Amino acid sequence: MNDNQKDIYNLLTDIERYFMQQEELFGNLIYPEKSAVAKILENEVIEDWQKSGTLDELNSKISSCVKCSLGSTRTNFVFGVGNPNAKVMFIGEAPGVDEDAQGEPFVGRAGQLLNKILAAVNLKREEVYICNILKCRPPQNRDPLATEMETCTPYLEKQIELIKPQFIICLGRIAAQWLLQTNDTLTRLREKVHKYRDTKLIITYHPAALLRNPNWKRPAWEDMKMFRKLYNELNNINNL
Ligand code: URA
Repeated sequence: MNDNQKDIYNLLTDIERYFMQQEELFGNLIYPEKSAVAKILENEVIEDWQKSGTLDELNSKISSCVKCSLGSTRTNFVFGVGNPNAKVMFIGEAPGVDEDAQGEPFVGRAGQLLNKILAAVNLKREEVYICNILKCRPPQNRDPLATEMETCTPYLEKQIELIKPQFIICLGRIAAQWLLQTNDTLTRLREKVHKYRDTKLIITYHPAALLRNPNWKRPAWEDMKMFRKLYNELNNINNL
């Protein structure tokens, strides 16, 4: 070793000793910035399903979800059905017994009424997209719990992001209150055009409520006429 090499060796040994002392004194805290960055990254882990580029990919990645307890009581995961490029998305509350059995939203009595509502405004079921706030049936059809909606609705948000509809039609209070993050009553929320991010959002009665109370069919028809008028205006349609 020449003198130059000795100097470098001594310097490196001093540096090494310095770091060893620092580590003894402060442990990992000698790199505070690094651990702060690591914390942020930990909190923002992107889950695989969030990267889905299509509805089919999303469905295949989430259909075994057991993030909430409904995952263990459901028969089928009810993702949603319809046109992946739909201009109109109908969002209900949660699957019922028929939907749970068949894995498709709105296939029971309420679904048959929804089909009639669609036909009344010249829309076909295949042309729109239909889904729910929750993808799994709550036992005894009870209202969804806030924690269930919190856990499940990121999937719905991703569906909306992929479909990019012009209109969202909320079927009933639960969907409306959740998407608008409000406690307002259905009565106060109807007859207005709201916004969910960039999408126009309209609220009407849930078809199951219309089956229970036929007096609401008339105002529900007014809601749908309001929607169809706006839809026509936005899409330059004159004859429907
Ligand atoms: N009620 C809903 O809210 N959604 C369905 O899919 C069926 C009934």
